[in-house]
Amino acid sequence: MINRKNNILILGSGGREHALVKKISSSNNIYKTFVCPGNGGISNAKLNIFNVNIDLSNLDDLISFVSTENIDLTIVGPEQPLVDGIVDKFKKKGLNIFGPSKNASRIEGSKIWAYKLMKKYNIPCPKSEVFEKSELAQNYARNFNPNDLVLKADGLAGGKGVFLPKTEDEINKTIEAIIEKKIFGSHNSKLLISDRIFGPEVSVFAFVDGDNSSELAAVCDYKRIFENDKGPNTGGVGAYSPPEFWDKKLEDKIKDEILYPTINALELENSSYSGLLYIGIMVTKTGPQVIEYNCRFGDPETQILMSKLDSDLFEICMDISKNHFDPNKVVWNNKNFCFVMMTADGYPGDYETGKLISGLENARDYNIIHSGTKKVDKKIFTNGGRVIGVVGEGSSMEEAIKHSYKGIKKISFKNSFYRKDIGKRAINDK
Ligand code: GLY
Repeated sequence: MINRKNNILILGSGGREHALVKKISSSNNIYKTFVCPGNGGISNAKLNIFNVNIDLSNLDDLISFVSTENIDLTIVGPEQPLVDGIVDKFKKKGLNIFGPSKNASRIEGSKIWAYKLMKKYNIPCPKSEVFEKSELAQNYARNFNPNDLVLKADGLAGGKGVFLPKTEDEINKTIEAIIEKKIFGSHNSKLLISDRIFGPEVSVFAFVDGDNSSELAAVCDYKRIFENDKGPNTGGVGAYSPPEFWDKKLEDKIKDEILYPTINALELENSSYSGLLYIGIMVTKTGPQVIEYNCRFGDPETQILMSKLDSDLFEICMDISKNHFDPNKVVWNNKNFCFVMMTADGYPGDYETGKLISGLENARDYNIIHSGTKKVDKKIFTNGGRVIGVVGEGSSMEEAIKHSYKGIKKISFKNSFYRKDIGKRAINDK
């Protein structure tokens, strides 16, 4: 008898999802991969990879697609469906899905909830205060130098909810915008004011199932649009791994003081975690502290993470979805990777779309990851702010950097932009 191979559904449309698709479709366990809605670089009929267009907020339509296409496992990319409870709904129907429950996703869905959890369980993080009234928030902030504070909207804000103010006026306007004008919605009008902390930032990832956790993978991403970390924040325009400051001592400290206490705290709060846990950490002079939790794969970190993962992604996700995870099955390599993202003119503000992307055929030997792209009549066009990127690999970080920029230079579209300094601090600060 031939064992039927598995059909997979991946939800999302960015580079993160393209990287997940590339990795999972390399597994011998896969027959068909569907991506909803996907992007211009993902579908490939010869490899049985298809884009499908279903509204991600329409859970009934997604569930009916899963049963029609005999999907064996769904993997959720973006945070919104997780925070909205897609995992609970699928599990109630007996469907396999990879990601945390609605309760556990609060770790990203509410910064206030996450802060209270850290405070209760002594997980190191910056001191913070919660506000619902703008006057009280403004009075509190007046006691500090504006450069010593961070303002955070409580709920999801599409990556735009964290503010690093420079002046009192900026603080007052931000507080007013969130609490009074409700720019992030009426259900997202609370605010957290945190002490600003300093040090290198690192995104750490672990596959988690209850109190079982894999080893950590560490990736640094670049949030600012311009070289030397100038200009506005973006969703992330580059990444590298391993970080130059990463060592066994730091890793053990993060596991003992942050990772294990976090998963234990979630268990104790009836929010047992199942999925990939992404912890944003700042390594301060007094030790690592949590700056944010995310309940999903990072973007652009996943573009690198999938090259660092030597194990079968399908097996890991399926085992976790069925609650029989063996953490020893997760093996991360320690090779050098650099990822550079090309962006559209104007991003992260208003940007252009619909520009023809050329040179892709000359870059076939590179690990190209599409983000905001669209395929029309076999041609690829820009269709987002973060457009396309290349993962470079090397026996040293220098080589990994060179490799990704070599690939990037083969690709072009009108008014494209990319940072020229991705990964360089890993060499300079060594
Ligand atoms: N790397 C930023 C994010 O995924 O939220």
